[in-house]
Amino acid sequence: MTTHGTGTKPRDIEQLTIDRLPKSKAILDRAKKVLLSPTATGPFRAPKAVAFVKNAKGSKIWDEDGNEYVDITMAYGPLILGHSHPVAVEAIRKACDKGTVYCIAHEAEVEMAELMVDAIACAERVTFANSGTEATMHAIRIARACKGKDKIAKFEGGYHGVHDCALISSILADPTGPIEDPLSVPDNPGIPQGTVDNVITLSYNTPESLDKIRKHKDELAAVIIEPVPSSYLVDMREFLQALRDVTQECGVLLIFDEVITGFRLAYGGAQAYFGITPDMATYGKIIGGGLPVGAVAGTVEAMKPLITTGDALQDYQEKLLTIGTFSGNPLTMSVGKAVLEHLRDNPQIYDHMKGLADRIKGEVHNFAEANSIDLRLIGLESWFIPHFVPADPKTSRDLRDIADLMKQEILCQYMRYHGVYLPDLHTVFVSAVHSEEDADKIIDAFKKSLVEMREDGHL
Ligand SMILES: Cc1ncc(COP(=O)(O)O)c(C=O)c1O
Repeated sequence: MTTHGTGTKPRDIEQLTIDRLPKSKAILDRAKKVLLSPTATGPFRAPKAVAFVKNAKGSKIWDEDGNEYVDITMAYGPLILGHSHPVAVEAIRKACDKGTVYCIAHEAEVEMAELMVDAIACAERVTFANSGTEATMHAIRIARACKGKDKIAKFEGGYHGVHDCALISSILADPTGPIEDPLSVPDNPGIPQGTVDNVITLSYNTPESLDKIRKHKDELAAVIIEPVPSSYLVDMREFLQALRDVTQECGVLLIFDEVITGFRLAYGGAQAYFGITPDMATYGKIIGGGLPVGAVAGTVEAMKPLITTGDALQDYQEKLLTIGTFSGNPLTMSVGKAVLEHLRDNPQIYDHMKGLADRIKGEVHNFAEANSIDLRLIGLESWFIPHFVPADPKTSRDLRDIADLMKQEILCQYMRYHGVYLPDLHTVFVSAVHSEEDADKIIDAFKKSLVEMREDGHL
């Protein structure tokens, strides 16, 4: 690794970034007067230098100042075919000509559900929504109605969106209580204590969690889990199998939150990847083909609170409602269907994405190790997250203890300066349209960023 000679002034990466974003800066100044946070996520963490996207195509984005980036944020996961893939664009064009929303039955929703039932092991019935948040919210209520019990269990550090119940002991909260028996704590203002009281918090990968489920089985409707925790992306298939066994033994439903893993780890999602079938699973991201979407899929038994009887009056009084004006709209269903069919018919896409991700992880690890830098790119298949940690974390608490999140944020600034859009404190997604050349640029940006971070005193 080369270093600046002693006495060289460290570069000010924030100022360098500001200097190349004058048009974005002007928009940011306007945004601060009218928006709570200038864009959906992220910029509030680095408010002085935010690149506003002008356009995107394939694996690239361009900001308002004309800077080009290889995008590995990929909208936090939906864009498995990259930006504006011809399959998605063509489906949008065709669907637009036929009307974008009806709130009346249409065939595209049925076709989309058929595709999901074919692909997903637990899916006998599907219901659609507009976001991953809505999907997990509906799944939890379906489980409560199905089992006639109020409590649900979730995992400390697990992310399921931003409804009340999801924002208990998720990635945002400070861990509370012993690791074997974490306490449920609200992550955000405005969460009612009654909701907190109905959530039991478990630790990933500990036998005590299985005992806790046994202890609370009479009040527990369901356990919801990200089959791969999105904060540290480890393979915990043995624990998932144990969880499947204990929930079955206790008469508690198991919900896989597949909002990211669905159609990402494999076409059949985490269920196919690990060979474990839950009672219900939640979806979002990829299945919308780039448009807003959510879905709950499950067995007939688990989904029975939703299944209509044909007696209109009885259904009206008794059936659980997951309806929404835009839920299952023909535009999203048509595009989602086109993208899923493309993935189904081109299984080599999964090998291509994994090959690139493995190469990036391998070359960056080798470089970091050769230079005694504790950077690890932790992940599975086409999905990984950079953490400055000496070893792969085993629980979300390990990560809080050892990860230097500030370093990760600073790495983002250097990577973007070197033309790769690394997401703020989030996972990286490789898509079908990333090329070997993109991988070269990503590896090169990691190497340059690490060298310069060391020169500038950040490592
Ligand atoms: C596992 C998981 N569940 C739920 C959600 C919420 O999805 P959305 O942002 O579409 O509301 C996310 C979002 O990143 C997620 O990663």
